[in-house]
Order: sequence, then C-alpha cells, then structure tokens
Amino acid sequence: MEVLSRASALLLLLTLSAGNAASAGNAEDGTDRCKLTGESPSERAVLNRLAPLLHRNFSVQKKDQEDSYTYVFQLCGDADGVAGAGLVQNNDKTKKTTVVGRYNSTKAIGGSDWVMLFYEDGDNYGSLCGKARRKAIVMISCDRSTDANPLEAIVEERERKECFYLFELDTSAVCPTVESKLSAGSILLILGVCLVAVYLIGGVLYQRFVVGAKGRDQIPNYAFWAELGNLSADGCDFVCRSRSREEPNAYRGVSSEPEEEPEERDDHLLPM
Ligand SMILES: *[C@@H]1O[C@H](CO)[C@@H](O)[C@H](O)[C@H]1NC(C)=O
Ligand SMILES: *[C@@H]1O[C@H](CO)[C@@H](O)[C@H](O)[C@H]1NC(C)=O
Repeated sequence: MEVLSRASALLLLLTLSAGNAASAGNAEDGTDRCKLTGESPSERAVLNRLAPLLHRNFSVQKKDQEDSYTYVFQLCGDADGVAGAGLVQNNDKTKKTTVVGRYNSTKAIGGSDWVMLFYEDGDNYGSLCGKARRKAIVMISCDRSTDANPLEAIVEERERKECFYLFELDTSAVCPTVESKLSAGSILLILGVCLVAVYLIGGVLYQRFVVGAKGRDQIPNYAFWAELGNLSADGCDFVCRSRSREEPNAYRGVSSEPEEEPEERDDHLLPM
C-alpha cells in the first residue's frame, strides 16, 4: 500500500506540472501593437484569438503575368522588417517594396472558426483604384491539422471601385475550443487503468529490486491477490455450479479401488 500511495503522489505531480506548462503558453501581449480603427473590446477579443501567429513572417510567392511578387504578412508586427507594415509586396525582379497594409489601421471580424483581418492605409495606387491607399484582407480559417499553413495569395482586386489584396491562411489558432470529448466516466476509467498500471509496474519494480523477490513473488501483494482469486473462485463455485460437488467424488469412490495412484506408478522411474 506504501507503493500505491507513492504512485498516486507521482501521478498527481505529473498532472500538476502538465497543467502549469499549458497555462504558461498564452502570449496575448503582442496584438496590442495592432491599432484598431474602431477600438472595441469585442474586436480586440477577435484579434487576440490570433495571438499564436504573432512574431512570424508568413510569405507567399505569386506570379502575375511577367512579374513575380513575394508577399510577406506578419500579425501586428513589421512584415519583412518594414516598419509599420503588416503586409508588404516585394517585386522579385526590381526588389521594390510596396506596403499593402499597415497594422496601425487594423480591423478584425470573426466567426466561430474564422477571423478576417484587414490592414488598411497601405501605399497609394499609382493610377488605378482612384489612387486610393492599398489594403490587404487576410482570411484566417480553422485547420486543426496545422499550426499555420503557408500563406496563400488569392486575388489582387484592381478592377473594382474598391480595391484590395486577398490572402488566405489556415491555422488551428482560430479553431473553436472543443469541450473534452471524454465524459467524466471515461476519464475516471482511464485514471483507474493508469493507477492500476502504475501500481503493477511500480509494485513489480519495488518487489524485484528493493525486496529482491523472484518469480511470482514479484507481483505486488501477491498473497492478497492470490487469496482474493481463491475467494472469488469459491464464490463462483458456490453460485454458478448447478450440480452438487459431491457427485463426482461419489462416482470416483466406486472405481477408486482398482485405480493406482499415478505418482506411485512413476516412482520406480526415478534414478535413485
Ligand atoms: C521577418 O523578416 C524580417 C526580414 O527578413 C526579419 O528582419 C525579421 O526578423 C523577421 N521577423 C520574424 C519574427 O521572424
Ligand atoms: C498609420 O501609419 C501611416 C504611416 O506612418 C500613416 O500614414 C497613417 O495615417 C497611419 N494610420 C493611422 C490610422 O494612424
């Protein structure tokens, strides 16, 4: 029983340290660098859901007729190191960098498994789009299989009155938190199985290396379990047997006289 209590203390310790590790990993500070155009607690909360994506450059290359561009996106941080830019476009040939959107002009809307992030106040269009400032829309969707898939450039809309660059990013960050699919009963069951396993393994190790037991004596509390086994066998015998136990004995009693005991027959074979 000493082994058992030691094992459960160990299990408790493991559970506690796992809990600490999980709660240490929430970094929500960095999204403060994003300035929301219409600051509101609910919009800030939507933005904070993206916190796992902080401090990372996401880039994608997109060919456009003869030109090739590399877009770099960062959440509330300098994309590709360009100050104030949340999303930049680099021309791969001319190396010209255009700011598509800035994080001092952010909007965020979201649903249960997606967040749509807007970066506005980018560089002005030359002649297109009424010389307006560029803006980027990043559609961030739930994908449980990945912490963040590569960024995807979907369209650069330039023919409409309102122009924008659209991107897509799949990540588990925006997935709804699922309630544990395990019911209280199955958790108890799993805990029970774990305790039994720890008891058996810990017990065997204890018996083997501390007590120095050999063979079946290595099974922890062997005498107790053996007795329990015998008792339940007796109980089953008592409950389940339909015929009386005396019958076979009585039958054997008749034929017992001509029958030799097998041990006695074997005796002469032993070398003495
Ligand atoms: C993003 O890219 C820029 C330019 O390559 C680099 O200076 C910066 O350190 C990167 N940021 C992160 C968080 O990786
Ligand atoms: C964001 O910064 C840019 C460049 O520094 C500036 O032109 C723009 O007005 C700023 N936007 C807001 C909403 O502060």
